[in-house]
Amino acid sequence: ALRTPLIVGNWKMNLNHREAAQFMQQLAWILRDGRFDPSACEIAILPPFTSIHSVQVLVQADKLSICYGAQTVSVTSQGAFTGDVSADMLSALGCTYVLVGHSERRRYHSDDDANLVDQVRATLAAGMQPILCVGEGYEERREGIELDYAVGQVDDITRDLSEEDARKLIIAYEPVWAIGTGLVATPQSAQDAAHAIRTHLERTYSADLAAQARILYGGSVTSANALTLLTQARDMDGFLIGGASLEAEEFSAIIQQIT
Ligand code: G3H
Repeated sequence: ALRTPLIVGNWKMNLNHREAAQFMQQLAWILRDGRFDPSACEIAILPPFTSIHSVQVLVQADKLSICYGAQTVSVTSQGAFTGDVSADMLSALGCTYVLVGHSERRRYHSDDDANLVDQVRATLAAGMQPILCVGEGYEERREGIELDYAVGQVDDITRDLSEEDARKLIIAYEPVWAIGTGLVATPQSAQDAAHAIRTHLERTYSADLAAQARILYGGSVTSANALTLLTQARDMDGFLIGGASLEAEEFSAIIQQIT
């Protein structure tokens, strides 16, 4: 396949290092039992900072084909920035991905466009891949400008990125009204957004880049709706999952539908 599906679990501020270890043990056990084929689907987990090492230990001990990463990153590399965590610290822990611009970060922290571009650059400079989150709120959807809004958010970041850098970018379309609400986007509207974003990448960079870019959907994905979304929204290559990623059984039920 041109694009391997990617299933990302964003734990947000859940699961401490002990709970993370438990989750990983359970997930490893379920996937082994179900004969999970890692070539059919890539799995990634984004724990809170304090649980990343727990995940790393389990991944290494059991030789799991599971990637992991962080939910945000500092834009500076080191020094007097109390409370921040640098990209090099994350890559030293074996992180593959960094989530950039999740709507909760945009809302509760100072993650604006300039800051997000710098997070993308810091992530890339440390050899990791950014997962950029975009998506309209309820207001934009009501006004019918959701596609322009989401594409505009992609453009805010990509207009400053070279094609080489943009090749490593993964985009997650997450309509804010669908996050944690149980209101999942229809396959058609997920497809429309993914398609609009892919078209934007083609116009900004190249047909080749656009064809290879992975675009995820996030917002109330569960094992009950994952398969329909993925099979009906052809431009979508996987999911960014919040609530349904917190229990190994539910998370693996999503993975197993896709593989
Ligand atoms: O990053 C994950 C998204 O915010 C979706 O969260 O699956 O709980 O709706 P949710």
